Amino acid sequence: MKAQAPGKLILSGEHSVVYGAPALAIAVREKVEVTLEPLSEGASITLSSDSFDETECALSDLPVLQTQLDKAYEAFLAGERSINGLLACPTDLLFYVLSLFPAQPGRYHIHSTIPAGSGLGSSAAVIAALLQTTAAAEQSATEFMQLVRFCERLQHGRGSLLDAAACTLGGVVRVQNDQVSKVELAMDGGWYRINTGRPDCSTGEVVEYVRQCHGKSSIWTEFSDLTGQLEQHWSDVSQRSELLRINHRLLQKIGVVPAEVSALVAKIEARGGAAKISGAGAHRGEHAGQLLVYWPEEETENSLAALSGLQPVRLVLSRLGACHEGN
Ligand code: PMV
Repeated sequence: MKAQAPGKLILSGEHSVVYGAPALAIAVREKVEVTLEPLSEGASITLSSDSFDETECALSDLPVLQTQLDKAYEAFLAGERSINGLLACPTDLLFYVLSLFPAQPGRYHIHSTIPAGSGLGSSAAVIAALLQTTAAAEQSATEFMQLVRFCERLQHGRGSLLDAAACTLGGVVRVQNDQVSKVELAMDGGWYRINTGRPDCSTGEVVEYVRQCHGKSSIWTEFSDLTGQLEQHWSDVSQRSELLRINHRLLQKIGVVPAEVSALVAKIEARGGAAKISGAGAHRGEHAGQLLVYWPEEETENSLAALSGLQPVRLVLSRLGACHEGN
């Protein structure tokens, strides 16, 4: 059996979506693929990937891990543990996903073209691809994305449904609280992403930082209005670019754009482009994961590379959400 799920990029509404504002995200070409070789005689699961050593877990140990992580999450909610400490290692999350439905014994190989921990939704995508190998795949899309979010909570803490919705449905999604809809926004040739490097802090940590500093702020209404306007004026390039610039300034205000990244955005703006972080960003360190860039179409990819000193990647929308083939 082969299963897959796409990564995502947030166009507008990161952080504010946690406080009930709408957000827009697109599923992208970068994806996670899981190949399952079932072993009918086996009683264990072996996980392998390009990024971690092969790891085995007995099927009988899965419920123990599940209970342990559910309790750890409750301790986080009660303020007794930090979000970072919940997962002892990345494979704990993957075994947890496979503990929710009767998993087939066998070898699960994970191949990902999504850079981890840099705002492209790698956690949600790997969770969704693994869930596709289980009976979860028979659930409705709404139930499936809630399951993805449920697993992702171990990494994102009190996160939103945004990543889960984008990788479940594919295309462009609009999320507000538990309301999810697909929208049609044309992605013309001027859209790029630039990886500014893996942030020093995890998404869960940044979400907690923002909650502590701005949880009760009225700034979320400004984000909310902005996302509404962006959707409304999407086809007008100059309005859309201006809204992107305003979005960047709001993200600076909540403290998730490192100075080095702000300096790069200033250079992009000075050349007529617009850019903002996409994803949680970072409240410390120099890196903020993905930067979403709108670069004027009369300019070239090479000129953006020369300006930034980094390799821009053209955004390609994936219309396909999480899915599988074979049994
Ligand atoms: O860092 P990412 O790409 O996983 O995005 C997180 C988006 C937040 O709004 C900051 C958190 C969330 O769960 O919506």
